[in-house]
Amino acid sequence: MRRLLVATLATALTLAATGAAAHAHRRAAPAPGAAGAGDTYYPDYGNGGYDVAHYDIRLRYTPATDRLTGTTTILATATQDLSRLNLDFLLDVSSVQVNNRPAGFAREGAHELVVTPARSITAGAAITIVVQYSGVPSSKAVDGFTAWERTADGALAVGEPEIAWWWYPSNDHPSDKATFDVSVSVPDGVEAISNGVQPRPPVRETLGYTRWSWRSLKPQATYLTFLTVGQYDVTTDTAADGTTVYNAYSQLLPADLRDAAQASVERTAEIVDWGSTVFGPYPFEARGGVVLPPGELGFALENQTRPIYSAGFFRRGSNPAVIVHENAHQWFGDSVSVRSWQHTWLNEGFASYAEWLWSEKTDEGTAQEIFDYLYATSPDDAPIWTTAPADPGVAQLFGDAVYDRGAMTLHQLRTAVGDEDFFEIVRTWTAQHRYGDATTEQFTALAEQISGKDLHALFQAWLYTPAKPVLAGAPASSA
Ligand code: ARG
Ligand code: ZN
Repeated sequence: MRRLLVATLATALTLAATGAAAHAHRRAAPAPGAAGAGDTYYPDYGNGGYDVAHYDIRLRYTPATDRLTGTTTILATATQDLSRLNLDFLLDVSSVQVNNRPAGFAREGAHELVVTPARSITAGAAITIVVQYSGVPSSKAVDGFTAWERTADGALAVGEPEIAWWWYPSNDHPSDKATFDVSVSVPDGVEAISNGVQPRPPVRETLGYTRWSWRSLKPQATYLTFLTVGQYDVTTDTAADGTTVYNAYSQLLPADLRDAAQASVERTAEIVDWGSTVFGPYPFEARGGVVLPPGELGFALENQTRPIYSAGFFRRGSNPAVIVHENAHQWFGDSVSVRSWQHTWLNEGFASYAEWLWSEKTDEGTAQEIFDYLYATSPDDAPIWTTAPADPGVAQLFGDAVYDRGAMTLHQLRTAVGDEDFFEIVRTWTAQHRYGDATTEQFTALAEQISGKDLHALFQAWLYTPAKPVLAGAPASSA
């Protein structure tokens, strides 16, 4: 889902540039949709020329063979006259239909599926794309990397930024979010868990398979759409605001890990309630978490409505900080997504700063103390200082500058404008860009607008300069 303004403007500019503006009725010939969404770091991720509203992903998966078969139906709107369009996908496609007619399809580059409809598509027209496919996802690699993981009792589709290619065709970029139906048939006795709510309970099918259905009611980025298949113990509840709570714990967790994980994840509803008071109303229809079998993944990810946690996060006992981090992402990253991957500090800086705010609230150290500690202990030549959070580059996209210095930037902002304006900025940000996407420049402009202060020097030093910022005067109080 994307506002159509950009396409309209682009069309107007094209007409003006070709001197065709005078001939109001003349149309440009249908052209191929772009092979990328315009990302500054990943130019071939996502695609151009259309805007997806909904994905219906209907699959069957067999853990023993890692075989995935299925059909994804994409409901989209053309944003230009299209002769063809691209999807991002890796598995083996057996047929593609566009608007009920067989379409041509061909693989191009590492992960592009080029679809040529029987008839060209007019700007503004509805497009229904049906892709039927099969494959063994773990056998597909791009640049030697496979994001899909097989586990001891199933599989895992979780990753950032790359994961969708291994299990469903999409416009794989956070600037084109859509609602999702995910329905997966798996052998009886294993769970298939995804985002959102269950529109219907699991249904027994023939041949010893059970179909699990999941639905995301709010726009969701492709990388935040996840699937885990395996044996899980589930706890469910309804939160005070009526949203569904659904938590899942791998049955492969040893008892001590399982207890620590549960003592953390079961606090999700409480932590989200706290987040609602700090960041603005919780944007989604469900909350909860999934804890993976030991040894899987090695990170946590803020899958919309249902973050996923590597078991390792609970090896040293309960860990509310990681629950705070992933759930803060529901506002920062999931509801307000990055327009381009370059702006990831808007996700990670806020999620990290949420941990500082939680620490402050639970008397485990103030945000100022955490800031001072990081400032004093990080060597001048460490990546946290030599990388600019607003332009970290792909290699440092998930580095300390994006996480810790991102949080430090927010703390500097809070110190400069005071708590009242700071939290006003935060809540205005989540309200203005709810279910959409945004850039660093939009954030700094909003901060200046609400505070009425010139914050150029602050943001220049903290976000854009690959060197340790000099602190002006004595540290201000954090209160
Ligand atoms: N967004 C995730 C988090 O901070 C991190 C994902 C890291 N990805 C990775 N490939 N290491 O919670
Ligand atoms: Zn994060």
